[in-house]
Amino acid sequence: MKNILITGGAGFIGSHLVRLMVNKYPDYRIINLDLLTYAGNLANLKDVENKPNYVFVKEDVCNLEGVQAIFDEYKIDGVIHLAAESHVDRSIKDPFSFARTNVIGTLSLLQAAKTAWAGGGDYTDKLFYHVSTDEVYGSLELGGGFFTEQTKYAPHSPYSASKASSDHFVRAFHDTYGLPVKISNCSNNYGSYQFPEKLIPLFINNIIHNKPLPVYGKGENIRDWLFVEDHAQAIDLIFHKGKVGDTYNIGGFNEWRNIDLIKVLIKVTDRLLGRKEGASDKLITYVTDRAGHDMRYAIDSTKLHEELGWSPSLQFEEGIEKTVKWYLENQEWLDFVTSGAYMEYYEEHYGNR
Ligand code: NAD
Ligand code: TYD
Repeated sequence: MKNILITGGAGFIGSHLVRLMVNKYPDYRIINLDLLTYAGNLANLKDVENKPNYVFVKEDVCNLEGVQAIFDEYKIDGVIHLAAESHVDRSIKDPFSFARTNVIGTLSLLQAAKTAWAGGGDYTDKLFYHVSTDEVYGSLELGGGFFTEQTKYAPHSPYSASKASSDHFVRAFHDTYGLPVKISNCSNNYGSYQFPEKLIPLFINNIIHNKPLPVYGKGENIRDWLFVEDHAQAIDLIFHKGKVGDTYNIGGFNEWRNIDLIKVLIKVTDRLLGRKEGASDKLITYVTDRAGHDMRYAIDSTKLHEELGWSPSLQFEEGIEKTVKWYLENQEWLDFVTSGAYMEYYEEHYGNR
């Protein structure tokens, strides 16, 4: 049996990855380490929580002793590290918590892996996989090229600066101590179980409740969107087949101007709610731009396609339709999160956050 530690498994992407790994690999034991911050929600994992090859451990990635104890207790062979503070707007208000979780947290996991694995004599069959973002590459000009694995890091937000720093630490542990590592940098994800502070679930929820849709600046910024389950598939593939020491960019060549994406969201949500076409257009509200707002992200994922044969499984229109349907059919999940009830529930069941 392989013992795989997935950090941040109660979050958006982490929960999709945990579900995929628990179901696909009954011989693996999947240990989900998560602090259950505001972004962590075990309701995301209801369908796998009773599986015999799944374990949840509440821990802070920054707590080196606690993380080391998990490596010892569960004889961890592989790590897939997703735990992070992940929202750019929060990083602008509170950069320190991003440095703590994303930089110190990654460093403490690396240190725990090195100590546990080097103690065994060598790193055979061990792997530290770090999940990162395309935002470390900075911002592209409109119509001006793509991020490749060779693009120089140029982060702008405290979030992307902290993720860039964590990527550098992962490479430093590979180059300095020989730790077997892999890194992937993915574009913006969308799909079910995303915390409704990010653009797509926030706007779906606001359309449902006839609340304003705050569009930053002129809505002309461009993001490259990937269905979250395709990201989880890519991580699984890279974890098993990617080259140790390598970086892989993940993205579906799917760029959208924010305002165009928002119009699609309104159209699909209105239709599925049985409202007249255009009924929610009036909710669009232009607001002050985000400070340091990156203009454009666009990933070149040719390497992942050519080396490992990965391609996204669905077209954006299909993915958005599925996503809007999921939020409409899971109003209870949305309400549990937006009301803050889930925070009280986990405080009661898992102690202080
Ligand atoms: P998320 O905010 O939904 O989830 C983060 C999870 O980490 C939560 O469950 C939270 O409780 C946990 N966590 C936070 N601090 C912790 C700590 N100190 N100790 C243990 N657990 C802690 O994030 P997400 O959108 O699922 O992103 C997951 C990873 O993927 C992040 O590393 C992010 O940088 C990266 N990523 C995200 C996107 C995206 O579009 N969401 C794109 C590319 C890369
Ligand atoms: P977001 O989902 O926060 O992801 P990221 O900042 O990591 O790309 O935002 C996606 C885009 O949508 C980004 O250009 C900022 C914009 N945006 C808005 O216009 N209004 C909003 O309320 C939010 C949350 C984002």
